[in-house]
Amino acid sequence: ESAEKGGYEHFMLKEIHEQPRAVRDTIGAYVKDGKIDLSETGLTDEKLQEIERIYIVACGSAYHVGMVGKYVIEELADIPVEVDLASEFRYRNPKLVKNSLVVIVSQSGETADSLAALRLAKERKIPVLGIVNVVGSSIARESDYILYTYAGPEISVATTKAYSTQLIAMYLLAIQAAKVKDVISEERYAALIEELGTLPEKIQKTLDDKERIQWFASKYANAKDVFFIGRGIDYAISMEGSLKMKEISYIHSEAYAAGELKHGTISLIEDGILVVGVATQAALFEKTISNMVEVKSRGAYLMGLTTYGNYNIEDTADFAVYVPQTESFFATSLAIVPLQLMGYYVSVAKGLDVDKPRNLAKSVTVE
Ligand code: G6P
Repeated sequence: ESAEKGGYEHFMLKEIHEQPRAVRDTIGAYVKDGKIDLSETGLTDEKLQEIERIYIVACGSAYHVGMVGKYVIEELADIPVEVDLASEFRYRNPKLVKNSLVVIVSQSGETADSLAALRLAKERKIPVLGIVNVVGSSIARESDYILYTYAGPEISVATTKAYSTQLIAMYLLAIQAAKVKDVISEERYAALIEELGTLPEKIQKTLDDKERIQWFASKYANAKDVFFIGRGIDYAISMEGSLKMKEISYIHSEAYAAGELKHGTISLIEDGILVVGVATQAALFEKTISNMVEVKSRGAYLMGLTTYGNYNIEDTADFAVYVPQTESFFATSLAIVPLQLMGYYVSVAKGLDVDKPRNLAKSVTVE
């Protein structure tokens, strides 16, 4: 087993480090000569052009990818998107309109609720695009269109590299839909694809800063509660960061849309509580900072996560983490890395079974 870990202490740390490669391979599979080509998935430009609404359905981290997808697709391609947990979707008689597409996101391709959601969509005659990592899995076989991610086998129960490749799939879908619907210029299309190509190297840069996160994580390993706050895409990042923390470190953690704090959650903030403020989106930066100030004035210890250049976050945050600048839509791919590392190092500091956390399974094939 130690050989399979390639010199890393745990599969999770190995898989975190495989993200630049996994992301590069997934981009490389669908970007040719500076253009996105989804023809291999079966979802041709003609079919994509007809889509008027998208429903993204998934479980766990894949659902969080869907939350990012909603922001990116709506903003870039101007197509309304609904995101559902598969276990909700399948039991709620969803109203699926004509000319829509159901997107099922799943690493394993075997999650029971996601598979049931796929079958429901097909019964209703809505085409299904599967975004799947495991070749030949049930969801891959039953989908009308299949976009494979190229994360490679993922062993750690807590997903990292599969999540990162699913994000790429969402960006590809959003950019190509924007192009075929003629809502972005040729220049913008080319610039987005060029920026996409820089993500592997920027993820690597983020990984190179891991010692700082390790230091911070060991300091906070005894925390009882952690709150992650952000707006828009930063809220979606917060959801995944919070899941990583709770699933492997067993620390109670919650993600909140920063603007919602004042409607209840702020009453939980007291001296020394750790709050992670995610603020990668320029348009929402000041708004999120003001929420960070609110929790700080109630005694929270504040970690701020933003992009290089936003150094004034240090006026508010006690500890700041920076990731490289990128297109705002792609920020998740970079900001998630320190949060994965934080969950990982807290779990290690607590001496827990990082790769196999209690009560969890890699793939949930029963209801
Ligand atoms: C399990 C895993 C999660 C994963 C979820 C959905 O709960 O522990 O990491 O996000 O299932 O799995 P899928 O294979 O459908 O992506």
